[in-house]
Amino acid sequence: MRFFNGKTVPMSFYSKHVFICTNQREDGRPCCQDHDTRTLFKHMKEQARADGLLGPKGIRINKSGCLGRCAQGPVLVVYPDNVWYRFKESTDLDEILEKQVKKGEVVDRLLI
Ligand code: FES
Repeated sequence: MRFFNGKTVPMSFYSKHVFICTNQREDGRPCCQDHDTRTLFKHMKEQARADGLLGPKGIRINKSGCLGRCAQGPVLVVYPDNVWYRFKESTDLDEILEKQVKKGEVVDRLLI
């Protein structure tokens, strides 16, 4: 158990939660899926699975709809760290997984 706003609440179900925007727009406005983030999402999830990180008390990686930072996309956010990144390729996601997710170390070059 932990305390939040003066109340006792259960411990977090996941230690970290990553949301990767895979939003696709049909009207020509910029969106993260323009950069094939669905494929990149699969890569990050497979890497996390191979590292044994997924599951309760571990981490969760989810596709998300628009996160409201389209012009800076493609983007992801890591909670509860509340750290946002712009990424381009699978190696960027590998670095975010290795540093931010596993160690809590910020990847400066990808920060937004
Ligand atoms: S489409 Fe990805 S942040 Fe808006």
